[in-house]
Amino acid sequence: MKLLQERILKDGNVKSGNVLKVDSFLNHQMDIELFNEIGKEFKRIFADYNINKILTIEASGIGIACITAQYFNSPVVFAKKAQSINIDGAVYSTKIESFTHKKTYDVIVSKKFLNPEDRVLIIDDFLANGCALAGLIELVRSAGATVEGIGIVVEKGFQNGGELIRSMGVRLESLAIVDAMNADDGSITFRN
Ligand code: G4P
Ligand code: NA
Ligand code: NA
Repeated sequence: MKLLQERILKDGNVKSGNVLKVDSFLNHQMDIELFNEIGKEFKRIFADYNINKILTIEASGIGIACITAQYFNSPVVFAKKAQSINIDGAVYSTKIESFTHKKTYDVIVSKKFLNPEDRVLIIDDFLANGCALAGLIELVRSAGATVEGIGIVVEKGFQNGGELIRSMGVRLESLAIVDAMNADDGSITFRN
């Protein structure tokens, strides 16, 4: 998505440790005009899939998911990062290992909000190692629901999440794929 790539080049900052800071428009301050264009693009890509529910994970996926949902006329469910102590039989739960944060946490969705007839589009802001996405896919499948597709705003193509998720046979579309970035000169290279 050209508009998004231009915005990343203009306002994104490459930090050491392979971190791309986009907090002036994506995951701290949010540019809603840009979000609207992102939502339209996801609708264009997944128009034929008869999606009735959007699933994301707290916190920074929620904004993008809500704007996108307006184009699908669907509700948004966000998976919650939980303390294991609260987990009971009324929720689907899975463990997610965060390489970035070096910890494992439980994520849950109430059984009330995922059903076998659901045709789910998973939305998130970032794809790095793919552990969060793998967990969301597992939650959908444990409900007997269907993952119709996954829409990501920024994929870090030099980490292995994209390969992991695509190898699971799920349609994954990222609006910008960063294949390389350099904290020294600030350069960012996109996949075509
Ligand atoms: P993964 O294995 O599930 O792919 O996730 P990873 O642990 O690598 O990433 C942990 C968190 O950091 C995720 O947010 C992810 O969106 C975010 N992230 C990873 N790489 C980048 C990056 O280069 N730039 C930015 N801005 N974010 C990145 P989170 O901690 O799950 O949650 P939240 O921020 O949504 O609350
Ligand atoms: Na994040
Ligand atoms: Na996120």
